[in-house]
Amino acid sequence: MFRAHRRVLVFLVATATAAPSIAAHAAASSAQTPDGKALFETHCQKCHGPRGHPSAGMKKLLPELPTWDAAFFRKRTEEDVLRVLQSGKGKNMKSFADRLTPEERSAVAKYIRTLNP
Ligand code: HEC
Repeated sequence: MFRAHRRVLVFLVATATAAPSIAAHAAASSAQTPDGKALFETHCQKCHGPRGHPSAGMKKLLPELPTWDAAFFRKRTEEDVLRVLQSGKGKNMKSFADRLTPEERSAVAKYIRTLNP
């Protein structure tokens, strides 16, 4: 009797701990559009700074870093940005072709244009 109880308890504990990770997995794989903001924060912000305004320290390390404002993006289409993400630019803006999927590059390219309207 006691033994049977124990087995049920072990089963319950096992399913209770497995359930949240199954739910999280389902949520992640059903996400349709990649999150441009999260991608920016993970892959771009360390150089470009929040809102695309690099810190003075970063500018010292990478003087060619642009400061993004509305005028900057008036001169660049979304295709221009996608080309840079595909092929890189200069010495320090590396290609993201092997780090981000085309959908992710598109989401982050759209997102950065909203930072300085
Ligand atoms: C290692 C630092 C670094 C990271 C990380 C980085 N960039 Fe850059 N980025 C640069 C530098 C440096 C330049 C200036 C390149 C030049 O003009 O020579 C630049 C330039 C750009 C430009 C302007 C290109 C143009 O048309 O003049 C865009 C747009 C851009 N980056 C987007 C991104 C995005 C989006 C990400 C993240 C997916 C990212 N960068 C990650 C360093 C970085």
